[in-house]
Amino acid sequence: MRTPLLAGNWKMHKTPSEARVWFAEFLEANPTLQSGGQAAVEVALLPSFPLVPVAAEQLAGSGVAWGAQDVSAHTFGAYTGEVAAEQLADLGCRYVVVGHSERRAYWNESDALVAAKARRAMEAGLVPILCVGERLEEREAGRAVSFTLEQLAGSLEGVGLETGEELVIAYEPVWAIGTGKTASADDAQAMAAAIRGFLAERYGESVAGRTRILYGGSMKPANTTEILAGPDVDGGLVGGASLEVASFSAMVEAA
Ligand code: G3P
Repeated sequence: MRTPLLAGNWKMHKTPSEARVWFAEFLEANPTLQSGGQAAVEVALLPSFPLVPVAAEQLAGSGVAWGAQDVSAHTFGAYTGEVAAEQLADLGCRYVVVGHSERRAYWNESDALVAAKARRAMEAGLVPILCVGERLEEREAGRAVSFTLEQLAGSLEGVGLETGEELVIAYEPVWAIGTGKTASADDAQAMAAAIRGFLAERYGESVAGRTRILYGGSMKPANTTEILAGPDVDGGLVGGASLEVASFSAMVEAA
């Protein structure tokens, strides 16, 4: 049985002061989580790096996990501006996003670099949320599945999962991110099933059966229940709708 996960990717929004208020309001609005209990879905918040210590302070002891949106592929050293996996782990992070389409596009992150980041994160005890997904041109050319699985194969190079290591995969069709255009629940389920089939071939049925596959791309309270109804869809990676306490709380409720 896979525990569903609803993770809020705040991207580059909010100041540490605003985050402090947001976390307090979110816990007040979700008393079960506030008291350290679990909702029907695991909840995680993934703010910008400067906000992670605030999350660690404010969310400690609650039922809400936290994490970051990127991590260095290197261990400690002369890598100006980078953030080491161990630094995030020391701040209590459970998750770290790797290979988000915005980093692949704006910073030209290759599948090989994404795989190196995933390996690094796992070495430090973090759970990578590895993002894959097609662009509109692949979708319109009927190559969405082949493109996404090729991207996944390259991004999992050298990543071992056979001895219990945990990794989450997020399917985020690029054309649905921030556009208000959500993939249909059928499309989300079809891709999640294709990803699970790939995992079964690559790592075996046990790994495929326990790996959570999230959907991301204009997910909001109105479509949460329908998207999560997919038997292979184990949650969501939420951008815009996670920035407001009310909408993200509504998604937790709907999940
Ligand atoms: O990582 C999640 C994000 O890419 C989705 O953004 O705003 O379409 O929910 P949004």
